[in-house]
Amino acid sequence: MKMTELAPNIFACGEKDKDRKMFDQLIPLPEGTTYNSYFVKGSEKSALIDTVYPPKVDLLLDKIEEANIEKIDYIISNHAEQDHSGAIPALLERFPDAMVVTNERVKDNVVSMLHVPEDKFIIVKDGDSISLGDKTLEFILAPFVHWPDTMFTYLVEDKYLFTCDLFGAHYTTGDVWADYSDALLNSAKRYYAEIMMPFRSFAAKYCKKIREIDPNVILPSHGPVYDKPEYILDAYDDWTSDRVKNKVIMPYVSMYDSTKIMAEYLTEKLEEKGVEVVLWDLIEGDTGELLIDAVDAATMVIGVSMVLSGPHPSAVYASYLLNALKPKLKYYSIIGSYGWGGNLTKVIENMFTIIKPEKLEYVIIKGRPKGDDFAKLDALANEIAQKHEAFA
Ligand SMILES: Cc1cc2nc3c(=O)[nH]c(=O)nc-3n(C[C@H](O)[C@H](O)[C@H](O)COP(=O)(O)O)c2cc1C
Ligand SMILES: [Fe+2]
Ligand SMILES: [Fe+2]
Repeated sequence: MKMTELAPNIFACGEKDKDRKMFDQLIPLPEGTTYNSYFVKGSEKSALIDTVYPPKVDLLLDKIEEANIEKIDYIISNHAEQDHSGAIPALLERFPDAMVVTNERVKDNVVSMLHVPEDKFIIVKDGDSISLGDKTLEFILAPFVHWPDTMFTYLVEDKYLFTCDLFGAHYTTGDVWADYSDALLNSAKRYYAEIMMPFRSFAAKYCKKIREIDPNVILPSHGPVYDKPEYILDAYDDWTSDRVKNKVIMPYVSMYDSTKIMAEYLTEKLEEKGVEVVLWDLIEGDTGELLIDAVDAATMVIGVSMVLSGPHPSAVYASYLLNALKPKLKYYSIIGSYGWGGNLTKVIENMFTIIKPEKLEYVIIKGRPKGDDFAKLDALANEIAQKHEAFA
């Protein structure tokens, strides 16, 4: 593979990783991901902006060699997570005169995580810039999209903004430029839910700032490059807003179908009332799909059956994960079935330490649902539909 020229003397040289199954051992990657690296050649100096995940470093070095790049003066590290900084040691071995340009927090992480020597860094602060001759790189600190260390790099003359993890997508279809397809938008939303949703207010703040900068092109470190920045900015404005939709997510787990019958019945009743429901099997489902709908759902109903005196562990895991990812959920309920005794709800309630959705009536029944149990589900459906009138 060759470098792709995006504009005169600006190249994309990242790698696709279509076979990678999980990200951060946490989130499924149905089509893998990309690690974007960019090479900028000025009249006097050259810079590589972010690197790749270490297993892909040989491919990056091959590209650099094929392009006859003899010298890299600066390696810009926007964020120390190893999917972008992990190849810095190998690059410094190949280009021993290169200096790593970054902020104090990235440096601290790169030194401790990758053992790069302290004297290999040039430290920049918010608003600082370095000159490549006819091109200038300006640095904009952007903590918390993704880690506290993250920054953006702005190529002033071309108005190219390198936003690192912000605006990423685990999208490997097509070439370097965004195809603006529904599939891309879905993939960008999946990425947002998994990586950026916990930092929603920061993402919103930076979107505002980026609109003021008014770049011509946005270049994230995963997925395609946007030559229409307003496309991804508009999507983020929607996702990061306080608005929720007339939608219920209903993750459920059921060993012998009692809870499943309840969840399906409740889904039918809610849909009859015009509420969108995403019924989602905790065992079979791809977590990313649940999270996409969690971005703007107003309510979550957890369907769970009793195992060993408590809730089935897969519902506990889902509750823990959702709490950590901080969706905008306003309401929640728990429905489920038990056989003889225990507590189905306490462990799940205790998971909500960060998000504070308002509790609606629970429907916990003994055995397989029958007449009166369905009446309780009817009442819950009514309560949800009433609460959702504000979002319809
Ligand atoms: C492995 C296992 C452990 C269970 N442990 C309990 C328990 O501790 N307390 C209880 O009330 N019921 C327990 N049950 C019974 C189920 O909660 C009950 O059958 C329930 O109706 C199952 O709902 P489901 O069909 O949605 O899976 C257990 C069932 C299984 C299979
Ligand atoms: Fe990251
Ligand atoms: Fe990343």
